[in-house]
Amino acid sequence: MSFQIGVDKNQTDENDGRNVSLLGTLLFKTVFRIEKNINFASLSIIIIDNTAIMIPQSHILNYLTAKIVILSGAGMSAESGISTFRDTNGLWNNYKIEEVATPEGFAKNPQLVLDFYNQRRKELLTVEPNPGHYGLAALEKYFDVEIITQNVDNLHERAGSSRVLHLHGELMKSCSVCNPNKPYDISPAHPELHVGDKDSHGDQLRPFIVWFGEAVPMIEPAIRIVESADIFVIIGTSLNVYPAAGLLNYVTKGQPVYLIDPNEVKTYRDDIHIIKAGAAEGVKQLTELLRSQ
Ligand code: OAD
Repeated sequence: MSFQIGVDKNQTDENDGRNVSLLGTLLFKTVFRIEKNINFASLSIIIIDNTAIMIPQSHILNYLTAKIVILSGAGMSAESGISTFRDTNGLWNNYKIEEVATPEGFAKNPQLVLDFYNQRRKELLTVEPNPGHYGLAALEKYFDVEIITQNVDNLHERAGSSRVLHLHGELMKSCSVCNPNKPYDISPAHPELHVGDKDSHGDQLRPFIVWFGEAVPMIEPAIRIVESADIFVIIGTSLNVYPAAGLLNYVTKGQPVYLIDPNEVKTYRDDIHIIKAGAAEGVKQLTELLRSQ
């Protein structure tokens, strides 16, 4: 029997001996957890979690190397029990943005603002990532995944996602009023901030959150990530808030865009693949779709 084992473009650093040992691994089904890819004839065999799967080579090359960029919003965490902002009974129906999420509101009544975020933080400590968060973390087995989130919770990280960029700050961090770019961790054991809590320079601490009217320092790195996407996925955001909503403009022309949301979300594009579902079900459907391509 003669056939040639090739290496795909991910594996050019592997020599022939390594390929043969991969084949041995495949044939004898020894423990081999991380996905690997052996190509011969027009077929690829990949090994994932000790299971060999044979699929057409033309598919596997994209499958293993595609970069998926996710833009998530409040709907991503809704099934964990965290309120969205603009749905019925959303946070902005019960609080005034200008009072709790602007620098002017903080100047006028700092304890009111600190209490609003103290409550959000304590709520975060009682909830868990949902299957949508876990589903995105699991996608990293098959794809190169980066998440850009407007959410200030840490549920993506707690579910195991390894690359998460927070556009609007992080609830479990504080910063001083004088230096918004130097975050400090907030201990879950002491989750509240109060007027009079200061950093080592004697400056009042505030939540490490981007308020309305403030600059969004992470937007430039986010744009670069979106530009590198082979596949762009929007989950659980009404796309009402800029510059986050404008990230869609930076997706390279022709690259597929998916949108997961149980409700209609207005975009200026008519070529978006809509998955009308909540985050958990939507991520499941997305994973099936991407893995079948
Ligand atoms: P919104 O409240 O504006 O939008 C939430 C989206 O989630 C809507 O499109 C809902 O239809 C959708 N949704 C609801 N339940 C869902 C579920 N189970 N699964 C998936 N989607 C669901 O929240 P954002 O768009 O994230 O900023 O809001 C953007 C920014 O506005 C926030 O980061 C926050 C807010 O003011 C700041 O506070 C700076």
